[in-house]
Amino acid sequence: MTYLNKPVADNIYYVGVNDCQKHLFENYLPLPNGVSYNSYLIVDEKVALVDTVDVAFADLFFRQIDEVLKGRTIDYLIVDHMEPDHAGSIGLLVNRYPDIQIVGNKKTFDFLKGYFTVNCPLVEVAEGGELSLGKTKLNFYMAPMVHWPEVMVTYDPERQLLFSADAFGTFGALNGSFCDDELDLTPFWDDMRRYYACIVGKYGMQVQGALKKLGGLPLQTICPTHGPVWKTQLPKVVGLYDQWSKYETEPGCVIAYGSMYGNTQQLAEAVAQGLVDGGVRNVVMHNVSKSDASYILADIFKYKGLIIGSPTYMNGLYPLIDSLLHKIEERGIKNHVYGCFGSHTWAGTACKRLTEFAETMKWPLVGTPVDNKQGADTETLNLCYELGKAMAAQIQM
Ligand code: FEO
Repeated sequence: MTYLNKPVADNIYYVGVNDCQKHLFENYLPLPNGVSYNSYLIVDEKVALVDTVDVAFADLFFRQIDEVLKGRTIDYLIVDHMEPDHAGSIGLLVNRYPDIQIVGNKKTFDFLKGYFTVNCPLVEVAEGGELSLGKTKLNFYMAPMVHWPEVMVTYDPERQLLFSADAFGTFGALNGSFCDDELDLTPFWDDMRRYYACIVGKYGMQVQGALKKLGGLPLQTICPTHGPVWKTQLPKVVGLYDQWSKYETEPGCVIAYGSMYGNTQQLAEAVAQGLVDGGVRNVVMHNVSKSDASYILADIFKYKGLIIGSPTYMNGLYPLIDSLLHKIEERGIKNHVYGCFGSHTWAGTACKRLTEFAETMKWPLVGTPVDNKQGADTETLNLCYELGKAMAAQIQM
């Protein structure tokens, strides 16, 4: 169903789709609330489509376009981002509209030619370039690495509206409306941070660059490629992106631990007690065997403190902890304070490896790393408790 009675703005229509079937975004990130692939039609003397949808939804997508256009053709496809969740339907679109002109930048076309065989005209735009659709004039700004190198955003100065590609997007299907003022936004905020942490989190510097570049543009509406169209929440969503891309955190601590038989979990619980007794109220515990890493990363992006615990496994780290460290490192997460504890039965490697991780990340190491042998005794649990208290003092400094 198309939102014909509810345009995004004058003569701009939402023609995106909800994906409530896919379990894993990019085949690894859980989608308990689904995800939307947003696409927009600008109807003027010329008609432009901004991005497409995952090819699995092409049939529905084209039906919605038909409902809006009632036989008119599409003159331009603007490709702000070439990732297949948005670009996937380009091949079929070009078959339906063989005279369509594709608007993108040099890198867009490099990627386009790699994914599709298209013989239609290409309109190359660069930083600040303009495209006229009649009354509507669109400007293009490059936003490399937010989230791929070819990403650009499209600005409509008349309507003060930004098509922002993945920026300001979130997981979560749109239940009955695409407008932020008509949705219960509660589940979106956490999923927006998880989306940021997992998809864009590595590129804080580039996000800062884009925010500075676009900061002077008057804005009434942001149309991302996933999640709600932002109208009433603009200061909040821009502020969150500014905060996350500067790796700014809130007081609180994540304890991420692996535990095969519950012994390392006892250590984690003693650490948590120390944190709470030290005055920290936001303590989030993640058993890495139960929490998907995307949720752990989202919480790490939120809170200043991180304490990681791991059993020794094959003379190294517990595999899921090893994998978590890799995900943290590849995102270059900054501005955290860090503590660790490990456990072993006959050879203690985990604590040593976790201690070295502080250096890898250039994070201050808080308290004394605790290395436990076999079952935890009172003395070791007390050391864990003290580690929690030391972290609490750091977080509240
Ligand atoms: Fe939603 Fe980077 O694609």
